[in-house]
Amino acid sequence: MTKTPKIAVVTGGSAGFGAATVRLLAARGWHVLAGARRLDKLRQVTEPVGAEALALDVTDPASVEAFAAALPPAVHLLVNNAGLASGFQSVAEAEDARWDTMYQTNVLGLMRVTRALLPRLAASGDGHVMNIGSISGFEVYVGGAGYTASKHAVRAVTKTLRLELLGQPIRVTEICPGLAETEFSLVRFDGDADRAASVYTGMEPLTADDVAECVVWAAERPSHVNIDEIVVRPRAQATSQVVHRRPEGP
Ligand SMILES: NC(=O)c1ccc[n+]([C@@H]2O[C@H](COP(=O)([O-])OP(=O)(O)OC[C@H]3O[C@@H](n4cnc5c(N)ncnc54)[C@H](OP(=O)(O)O)[C@@H]3O)[C@@H](O)[C@H]2O)c1
Repeated sequence: MTKTPKIAVVTGGSAGFGAATVRLLAARGWHVLAGARRLDKLRQVTEPVGAEALALDVTDPASVEAFAAALPPAVHLLVNNAGLASGFQSVAEAEDARWDTMYQTNVLGLMRVTRALLPRLAASGDGHVMNIGSISGFEVYVGGAGYTASKHAVRAVTKTLRLELLGQPIRVTEICPGLAETEFSLVRFDGDADRAASVYTGMEPLTADDVAECVVWAAERPSHVNIDEIVVRPRAQATSQVVHRRPEGP
């Protein structure tokens, strides 16, 4: 007898960790529904693995509402992955628009999507909220306040959910990656490919697949086992800013 697949929802499935998570969950037999703003790019991820692509902008309440309404009545796993950094400026010099984008996406978007899906997660009888945080949720660095503040907030939301959902059949996990090579730095530096590449110079960063493995491992523990958090960094990274880099060649 074939088992009915569990249902997973992944936000930000069009690139990076989200795309790798869609692929790995699908390979493991989950039915995956993924959301992102770039629907064409999202479909390139979902179609080959039999997942579903839905338009989603987590910063737009109407978009989140439409996204949630298109989901099945019971969902087992929500991976709150959509997120970004914008710029690398001190508090003295940063622009409001960048703070707004990061806070709207990383914090309010995550809370909005979670709120919209909680009834479906409870209805599954075995729900799981998986928030993609960061080591920036508990470390800080010069020029990072807008992003680190947002990821500290993700940590606060995760811990609050664990209290508020106690007694319900919903687990809550935070995955906190360090340096990983995705589109993240390209987005942070407004498409400046050289500057983005320099983030990973002389060191081996995590890959999107490394992070997806953590997500799927935590999701596939037995229902009574709650993995609170996973901190995963490259071997060459001790803290956000203390990174071992190979000396430049001749
Ligand atoms: N890479 C790292 O070093 C690193 C480390 C720790 C944590 N993280 C976190 O990991 C998560 C994924 O990042 P990544 O490294 O995989 O970056 P990425 O390659 O840039 O992917 C980000 C994803 O988020 C989606 N997204 C952005 N804004 C969105 C919005 N308003 N609505 C819906 N989707 C949105 C993007 O899709 P569209 O543009 O198509 O909407 C894209 O699919 C983020 O939360 C990030 O903060 C990254």
